[in-house]
Amino acid sequence: MAKIIAGVGTSHTPAIGAAVDNGRTHEPYWVPLFKGYEPSKKWMAETAPDVAIVVYNDHANAFSFELIPTFAIGVADEYQVADEGFGRRPLPPVPGHADLAWHLAESLILDEFDITIVNAMEVDHGLTVPMSLMFAEPAEWPCPVVPLAVNVVQYPPPTGKRCFDLGKAIRRAVDTYPGAERVLVVGTGGMSHQLQGERVGLINAEWDQRFLDMLVGDPDAAAAISHVEYLREAGSEGIELVMWLVMRGALDADVREVYRATHVPTSNTHNGLLVLDNSGSGPFT
Ligand code: DHB
Ligand code: FE
Repeated sequence: MAKIIAGVGTSHTPAIGAAVDNGRTHEPYWVPLFKGYEPSKKWMAETAPDVAIVVYNDHANAFSFELIPTFAIGVADEYQVADEGFGRRPLPPVPGHADLAWHLAESLILDEFDITIVNAMEVDHGLTVPMSLMFAEPAEWPCPVVPLAVNVVQYPPPTGKRCFDLGKAIRRAVDTYPGAERVLVVGTGGMSHQLQGERVGLINAEWDQRFLDMLVGDPDAAAAISHVEYLREAGSEGIELVMWLVMRGALDADVREVYRATHVPTSNTHNGLLVLDNSGSGPFT
């Protein structure tokens, strides 16, 4: 049986990818941010998951505004890196895990999560920036990825509760996968930021820290946060945090916080990183 071993939540700000690709990580602006990821990179190298389910959002790159699935799973063998307007990031293509992805699709749909099946797509900064942050700059990515995209770019996004429940369904799916894979689940995006309108530039670090505390110790309370609260407290793009709830739902009811690092500002964002280890307490009931 495959096993979910740990979860990671991380922001996915595109400027981080540009800093990596242009050799600017040692500039004073970027040093504290990248220093914050050093312990998690070490943890990741030691933990060496066999496959990662990366829950992220597409920013109108794979899916245009003509067609926006609420939840979509990639079942391909490989994903090319999207050109988001400045050329493709110089990264290796992201290897898929078609067998696990098809098992997830079947299990989720039979579990009444009617997820969209994606046979071919490109992946944008929502997925590639966390890959750079978790794994540095390898010639090849160290493990295959199952991309799971969540709509948070066009109202109405799914609720936090729905995302949390999707995580629980992912857990049930992985627990019934006949492989021996040790699976990492990653939720990307956030924390507070607003890229548009009168409150552009909004950051609410105190709210973000409370969100992280809740996500670890009282996930039902985190799952109950409404769209309006995300908008009011975390800004219009703070809604990306619902993807961290998918990750949390896939973990044990009790988890061990391995590592947390936050940094303000990173581009327009309060950058967050959370590493959670399954405690062995078992899934949510
Ligand atoms: C920024 C953050 C995001 O999550 C994103 O998708 C685009 C931009 C930013 O902070 O600039
Ligand atoms: Fe984003």
